[in-house]
Amino acid sequence: MVPQIHRFYSRFLTKLVISSFLTMPLDTPNIRQQFPILAKNNTIYLDSAATSQKPESVIKAMNAYYETINANVHRGMHELAEKATVAFEDCRKTVAAFIGCKPHEIIFTKGTTESINLVAKSWGKANLKKEDVVVLTILEHHSNIVPWQQLQQEIGFSITWIDIDEDGNLTKTETWENGKLIEE
Ligand SMILES: Cc1ncc(COP(=O)(O)O)c(C=O)c1O
Repeated sequence: MVPQIHRFYSRFLTKLVISSFLTMPLDTPNIRQQFPILAKNNTIYLDSAATSQKPESVIKAMNAYYETINANVHRGMHELAEKATVAFEDCRKTVAAFIGCKPHEIIFTKGTTESINLVAKSWGKANLKKEDVVVLTILEHHSNIVPWQQLQQEIGFSITWIDIDEDGNLTKTETWENGKLIEE
């Protein structure tokens, strides 16, 4: 299959899978059973943005990695390093197929704060100008505030804050032109 067609189909399939999941009722008891930490007690865990709980399949995969191929990725000439590198790159391909992008577009980081700092300090620093406006909402965690405020001090662009109503919906409406906010 030519790459463009392959890309089209993988995006189409990803959307199809995601929309099917969104319309399916969640089988919560079955999902809980897959997470040892939740299966063993009645904990209701709502802090996944900070630390996500791991299902048994992930715990097993992590154990198998440490027990069999743990080594430097892309920085070793020995057999274990080769195996670890292949596993790492296979993972990149799996994630890329799942979200519908190219493997080289995937960058693994250790969390949200590191990811947003990376975007702000690479893309943001190279592209944002004094006359630009960065739009944030008052719902943001500070991992999506501080990197933009630090860059704002350097470049001098504006930051617009979108408020929420009593139902938690975003309230401001904006007009954008060529990616720029020109009217509120
Ligand atoms: C809602 C929310 N967003 C973002 C973050 C930042 O995530 P990370 O620790 O991956 O940088 C946290 C961390 O606690 C969080 O609770």
